Amino acid sequence: MRQPLVVGNWKMNGSRKLTVDLLDSISNGIDAKIASEVAVCIPNVFISLATETVRSTNLTIGAQTVSEFEAGAYTGEISASMLEDIDCRWVIIGHSERRALYNETNEALVLKVLAAQQSGITPIFCVGESETDYKEGRTFKVIESQVTALLNNAMVSLDNLVLAYEPVWAIGTGLTATPEEAQEVHAFIRNLLRERSVELADEVRIIYGGSVKPTNAEELFDQQDIDGGLIGGASLDANAFISICQKA
Ligand code: PGA
Repeated sequence: MRQPLVVGNWKMNGSRKLTVDLLDSISNGIDAKIASEVAVCIPNVFISLATETVRSTNLTIGAQTVSEFEAGAYTGEISASMLEDIDCRWVIIGHSERRALYNETNEALVLKVLAAQQSGITPIFCVGESETDYKEGRTFKVIESQVTALLNNAMVSLDNLVLAYEPVWAIGTGLTATPEEAQEVHAFIRNLLRERSVELADEVRIIYGGSVKPTNAEELFDQQDIDGGLIGGASLDANAFISICQKA
């Protein structure tokens, strides 16, 4: 009942040429038969070009962060309504790189989720434990605090929301959680969602990220509560990304 979702995260990579070439290759490789929904989150500066490039395809475009504010004196920031204005459909919020390198706190991230939802953009809210937390057995505690920070805000809607579980130690490292480990965390997240709404909890897509490759995608996506993937490195390679999308 939940349509699988595969989201590419190009991070700070690309150029005008790469944007057009890679999106063309991906959209050509994804035919109408594909069961999953596919989106690509790219640097803001190329979003307009990207939305034009994918206009008559079944690919959609997202951003990688957004301001929590609507407009005003916030030099360098981009608002959700600006993203919506250029046909951006998704935004990654709380990626571990944003949390770690730009000190984004749970409080600010929740405001970003609200800003996106108010503009009709679907937030992809990322949670995940560090390597130390993982090794010292704190995974569920960390995930609970990140997810409840979001759900404790009554204005956050479950109707237009995607969650992404990305163990920090698995991002860009070639290490992945085992399908069983990932499933356990996804089921735990869904149970937290159930505390808010039993019906909606079963509709929210929870995707997995962290070194997803064509070789491990299928066993991850086969898990009951894993509804697709957030793909970093492999999303910059059209064949690898298409192959992952076909497995979802
Ligand atoms: P990765 O990145 O697939 O390169 O591990 C995932 C992510 O950062 O979203």
